[in-house]
Amino acid sequence: MLEIDLPHINADNRLRKVLAAALPNQNGSKNSPNLPATYWDASFFNLPQVKIFQEASTAEQLAMVEIANRSLLEEAYFIEKAGVGYMAKMVLLAETIEERMLYGLFTADETIHLSHLSYFCPESELTNSQDPFLSLLAEVIEDADKTVLLFVLQVVLEGWGLSHYRRLAKECHHQPLAEVFRSFLQAEARHHSTGNILFHQISLSPSSRGNIIDLLSRFLLMVQVGPQNVLGAIEQVKGHLSRKQKIQILQELDTENHSRTRLDLLRSLMVGDSVQSIVESLENRGAFQPLPAHQCVF
Ligand SMILES: [Fe+2]
Ligand SMILES: [Fe+2]
Repeated sequence: MLEIDLPHINADNRLRKVLAAALPNQNGSKNSPNLPATYWDASFFNLPQVKIFQEASTAEQLAMVEIANRSLLEEAYFIEKAGVGYMAKMVLLAETIEERMLYGLFTADETIHLSHLSYFCPESELTNSQDPFLSLLAEVIEDADKTVLLFVLQVVLEGWGLSHYRRLAKECHHQPLAEVFRSFLQAEARHHSTGNILFHQISLSPSSRGNIIDLLSRFLLMVQVGPQNVLGAIEQVKGHLSRKQKIQILQELDTENHSRTRLDLLRSLMVGDSVQSIVESLENRGAFQPLPAHQCVF
């Protein structure tokens, strides 16, 4: 059984030295003592539009931006960590030598991405047990069959990741981190296009199609409910928020437009004859419709 969420080895384990020497980027396993607390500013998260943010003290505003920054960075870290395990699984599932060679290279790509991001994420602070997106991602990688993996992970999620990383790079005000995200783009584009080629060479069985629809509707629902991480960052600083306050915050964050942009992008990645029926099923379930603020609060 493949396990995605692996523990770290001890700080004094000699394997760390071998790994650091083997990585092209020598400082990949160390954290810099002088990292800034924020890489993206409040406007990246649309926080200046939110009344409770406008009325907060400078210290509270800074804390909200810091929490939102950390959750964005940690999400990228965990995606890359899952990517290493995913690509290694695909090495084993390959059916031709060229396919296996590509996945061997892709495993190294994700390893390098992970080492770059770990420079910015202190190990001791990382926890992902609570995040529904990351748990679903791990569940899919561990359990799904190859056709489902190709479509959900490489065609859809890596396609989405490509625009997500492009935006993270563009809006990041810390040049070294912006450069890290920029350096991922070429590899991620290659992962995505390989997924497309391989997926379209496989004939889609009814059970794989059913699984794809189920999994994608779960992923899409997480997009339909808007910027929950930003809402969470506000709540962590301000304490408990009432349902009414949460609805107002999501409205001020323009949740429907926020979700619509992302849902449209995700839909645009699902193209091709065999995919048409998947898109239709998802459409019939309303999975590409952003939810109004009052339906995004639970
Ligand atoms: Fe990556
Ligand atoms: Fe990737």
